[in-house]
Amino acid sequence: MMEKRPKVLAILGSTGSIGRNALEVVRANPGKFSVAALAAGNNIELVKEQVREFGPSFVSVATKEAADGLRAALPRSVKVGYGVDGAIQAATIEGAEMVLSAISGAAGLVPTMAAIEAGKDIALANKETLVLAGPLVMEEVARRAVKLLPVDSEHSAVFQSLAGHRNSDIKRIILTASGGPFLNTPIEALQTVTVAEALKHPRWKMGKRISIDSATLVNKGLEVIEASYLFGLPPSKISVVIHPQSVVHSMVEYIDGSIVAQMSNPDMKGPIAYALSYPERIDAGTPPLDLFGLTLEFTAPDLKRFPCLGLSYDALTMGGTATAVLNAADEVAVEMFLKGLLPFTEIYRVLSGVLSRHSPAPVRSVEDVLEADAWARDEARGLIKCLN
Ligand SMILES: NC(=O)c1ccc[n+]([C@@H]2O[C@H](COP(=O)([O-])OP(=O)(O)OC[C@H]3O[C@@H](n4cnc5c(N)ncnc54)[C@H](OP(=O)(O)O)[C@@H]3O)[C@@H](O)[C@H]2O)c1
Repeated sequence: MMEKRPKVLAILGSTGSIGRNALEVVRANPGKFSVAALAAGNNIELVKEQVREFGPSFVSVATKEAADGLRAALPRSVKVGYGVDGAIQAATIEGAEMVLSAISGAAGLVPTMAAIEAGKDIALANKETLVLAGPLVMEEVARRAVKLLPVDSEHSAVFQSLAGHRNSDIKRIILTASGGPFLNTPIEALQTVTVAEALKHPRWKMGKRISIDSATLVNKGLEVIEASYLFGLPPSKISVVIHPQSVVHSMVEYIDGSIVAQMSNPDMKGPIAYALSYPERIDAGTPPLDLFGLTLEFTAPDLKRFPCLGLSYDALTMGGTATAVLNAADEVAVEMFLKGLLPFTEIYRVLSGVLSRHSPAPVRSVEDVLEADAWARDEARGLIKCLN
């Protein structure tokens, strides 16, 4: 039998939590993958190590200064780019079959869209791509006939639970949420929680923004929006349940009352490996789930504790640019919280304030989205000044 040649990957956000996990999956599966390009932000030291180990022919970083420093330290055979253009070059590099989209935030949209337009299959961790421009992205995915495989553990679980079923038989999908670090904190105490407390997620090790978004449940709200576009379902068919153990990663309930769920230890290498190797399954390097020690609890989310979740449903219902606006306001609010310039509970006030001032417009192009994103960032900054 002929040996299968390695699948060629481009990894965007290689120095982040998802990027590093993805490279662990590549390392654990010799001969299955090769890496043609990496894109990262400012962690130059780690990029150098990754280039040495995985041998891409192109690397991009956030700034010209970082690129100049990197170029001097790498062999000439490795081309170095920077900024949005560099990330696009990495995303569209010739020969790569699949792009792992794992840059954090709205910055992930443009390179991911470029990869789709270049006909690459996408392993999508950057949920913002769909939150910002869901209809455009799904249209382009269909037009270019590329695969869009979810990396978010909830969407991977839904995708796996949908296999072999008809979409018309879905009653609803149920996204699980751990509830984050403040699930049982008295609501009055939320006002004074510290950055360190908010970053301390009980189940997952993630980047800073998504960790804070998991504490406010904005992350779950963005996942509801992502799921709506990815699976073509209205908000009324997407529920969220709190499941503190994070073992059931999400479920699909069918019209006959059956619920199909996907379970595993909470480790992102599982969904990453599945997206990279789909439809095959490979060793993800995660420990087996101990079924005998399991307790599984499910409760309804308390919208008084997690008001941002309700806001995400509102934005999805408003449609058009509203979801991009919600995301941009959140990126600004989280940045200010992380700097100690905004109390935790004010994140909701910033998001609801900006969203209430927005008149959504249809999303016809990436430019429409970027304009709404810029507007929302200005509004959020103005509002935070007033709040302070
Ligand atoms: N972490 C998880 O478990 C998880 C689960 C599901 C979905 N996701 C999604 O995956 C994405 C990444 O999350 P993460 O937790 O891996 O974030 P992270 O740890 O903060 O990593 C972000 C990555 O993006 C790079 N980056 C940031 N801004 C950039 C820019 N303007 N241009 C190029 N690169 C840039 C960073 O580079 P430097 O570090 O070099 O600056 C880093 O490599 C997010 O959209 C998140 O919602 C994450």
